[in-house]
Amino acid sequence: MKLLFVTGTDTGAGKTTVTRAVTAALCARGLRVAALKPIETGCSFGPMGLEAADGTLLRAAAGNWLSPGEVTPICFTTPVSPAAAAVAESRPIDLAALAEHIHTVAARADVTLVEGAGGLLVPLDDRTLTADFVARLGARLVVVARDALGTINHTLLTLSEAARRALPVAGVIMSRVSPQPGPDAASNASAIARFGRAPMLGTLEHLPAGPRLAQLAAAAAKLDLDALL
Ligand SMILES: Nc1ncnc2c1ncn2[C@@H]1O[C@H](COP(=O)(O)OP(=O)(O)O)[C@@H](O)[C@H]1O
Ligand SMILES: [Mg+2]
Repeated sequence: MKLLFVTGTDTGAGKTTVTRAVTAALCARGLRVAALKPIETGCSFGPMGLEAADGTLLRAAAGNWLSPGEVTPICFTTPVSPAAAAVAESRPIDLAALAEHIHTVAARADVTLVEGAGGLLVPLDDRTLTADFVARLGARLVVVARDALGTINHTLLTLSEAARRALPVAGVIMSRVSPQPGPDAASNASAIARFGRAPMLGTLEHLPAGPRLAQLAAAAAKLDLDALL
């Protein structure tokens, strides 16, 4: 049972895209993968009730063997941090129950990837940051960084906070969010590898909109996935 927590340098860094791709690639290796988005904010009502967009994508990448409620047990409609959404919707998050749920699912899988909301210091309640919850879970971190200008500072700050808290880091994965790499793209990964003191697992190439699972799996197969196992 391997438990990985996917955090980002911020929201929109590529966590869901990278988690889907890694999940699809590990499934293609014959592993049973659980991909969870345990707390999702900004959910909307669809024909099946409250729907978690990230959770739906992650569930499909793993082959739909978990129920939507197992993938995303906590959905808020308010598009803010989990702590603020819980207050806005008067629904406190039971972090002990959530940790137990994640461990129960992880016991049924070879590898479990848990996508966080935003980055490492996003609050989950008025006493708990995401980093505290990662420590409680005993998960290794995967840091997803947008491969764009500004990422070196954001990524090194995230790695520095992980090191300060002695959180183990399995590695950093960059995601090429724009089709044309900027002049910074060639140097981002090497600067992070040099100063970050964490394994650099590679850059997920830019994918077309609505990528198929085979495309996601092929792109992630070029990353150093062995570091996650
Ligand atoms: N490698 C990539 N190729 C193409 N688009 C990407 C890539 N990585 C991220 N994106 C796009 O960037 C946006 C944010 O990515 P997402 O994975 O949803 O980030 P997060 O989960 O961290 O909020 C999405 O529109 C997504 O499709
Ligand atoms: Mg996401």
